[in-house]
Amino acid sequence: MSEKDKNTISLANWKTLTEKAKQVSERAYAPYSHFHVGAAALTADNKIVQGCNVENASYGLTVCAERNCIAQGVINNETTGTVKYIAMVIYTKQEKLTPPCGACRQVISEFFPQDAQVMAANHLNEQKVWTVEQLLPDAFLSSDLLD
Ligand code: THU
Repeated sequence: MSEKDKNTISLANWKTLTEKAKQVSERAYAPYSHFHVGAAALTADNKIVQGCNVENASYGLTVCAERNCIAQGVINNETTGTVKYIAMVIYTKQEKLTPPCGACRQVISEFFPQDAQVMAANHLNEQKVWTVEQLLPDAFLSSDLLD
């Protein structure tokens, strides 16, 4: 299997990830924006990690679904060593597909391969897919900290 094939996923996997992202969006804590977001990420060894947005009365402390998903992966020890993420779906029940915010793009870049795919999906069965590199070209990465 080529490196490229390792980072592409089947239609069945996209469907499962979308369903998982939708499910977890129903757990979003979003009493201020009422904007419910779910994220689900797939690891190279077929594990799925989920996260939803969690808001706060002090608005700036809100954490997006994507970052909570990645934090959950760390907590569950899902992507250590050679096991990497290969895809993420971000689900919102919105006509306009939700792209990840700037802060999430930076955090996604830290944990996903640059050619991994990120999909926005909604209840109308619409999708848009980007690579991590497209979301944040020339990301600041751990390799930039090394001389
Ligand atoms: N939000 C996410 O969870 N992910 C995104 O990609 C965009 C925004 C959340 C943050 C906040 O709870 C609500 O959506 C409105 O901005």
